[in-house]
Amino acid sequence: MLPHVQATRFVVPLKEGGSLPGVVEASDDGTYVMKFRGAGQGLKVLVAEVLVGGLARRLGIRTPDLVVMDLPESIAKYEADEEVQDLLTASLGTNLGVDFLPGAFDYNGSRPAPEDEGAAILWLDALTANIDRTWRNPNLLVWHRTTWAIDHGASLYFHHSWPSKAPSPERFAAQRFDASDHVMLEHAVALPATHERLSPLVTREAIAEILADVPDEWIEPAVGHATPAEVRAVYADMLLARLATPEAWLPEAPR
Ligand SMILES: Nc1ncnc2c1ncn2[C@@H]1O[C@H](COP(=O)(O)OP(=O)(O)O)[C@@H](O)[C@H]1O
Ligand SMILES: [Mg+2]
Repeated sequence: MLPHVQATRFVVPLKEGGSLPGVVEASDDGTYVMKFRGAGQGLKVLVAEVLVGGLARRLGIRTPDLVVMDLPESIAKYEADEEVQDLLTASLGTNLGVDFLPGAFDYNGSRPAPEDEGAAILWLDALTANIDRTWRNPNLLVWHRTTWAIDHGASLYFHHSWPSKAPSPERFAAQRFDASDHVMLEHAVALPATHERLSPLVTREAIAEILADVPDEWIEPAVGHATPAEVRAVYADMLLARLATPEAWLPEAPR
């Protein structure tokens, strides 16, 4: 399980992000970026953050530590900004906390990631269908001169159709990945070797361990899969099916 902390103060919303995350202080004296359960796309985004963030960590990609953060009513009640107050009120209970990296700046190429890191990030995004890593919106931070991956909430978007359509590992396995705007596209030449190096790390056991960090109450039923345990197994089925078909989704180096 992820560490569980209590939010103690809402500091400021991060309005540059699409989903209006906020900087929040917590009972462990830490500062976190809170990703709200009540934001537009709901709980599935939090599941994607934990699963893909957990995979990143296992692949050697730096990514901030995660916690489960309880948001009490007292904090929502005294927020002055109306838009933020609505979001806080819709997010009472458990949310995701992402360790805040003070002084980090958005990746802009001025401190390029080394090839192995860049290729690993591109590979993970292609595997998990994460389209949110473009030059316009890199979702990579530079902190202490190194590259940190954040914001994996848009990956695994197939799960948004699960309430109405049964999960299809075959369909996901066959789906190509458009890397034409990806910030690490220059490292695409290294992808075949990167696939050899990283795919053995993405096992059913690894996925199960990472998903054990997701609270049951964040895991919504899918058509044909009612319980959190069944749904966790479907995430593994999806990723393992795709892992076996790199010819379908592994981006090619631009000519
Ligand atoms: N852990 C963090 N440390 C420092 N800044 C962060 C962190 N997480 C996010 N940010 C900043 O907040 C912005 C929005 O966060 P992000 O997770 O990308 O949310 P969104 O889903 O709204 O895009 C990021 O682009 C980044 O500038
Ligand atoms: Mg973002």
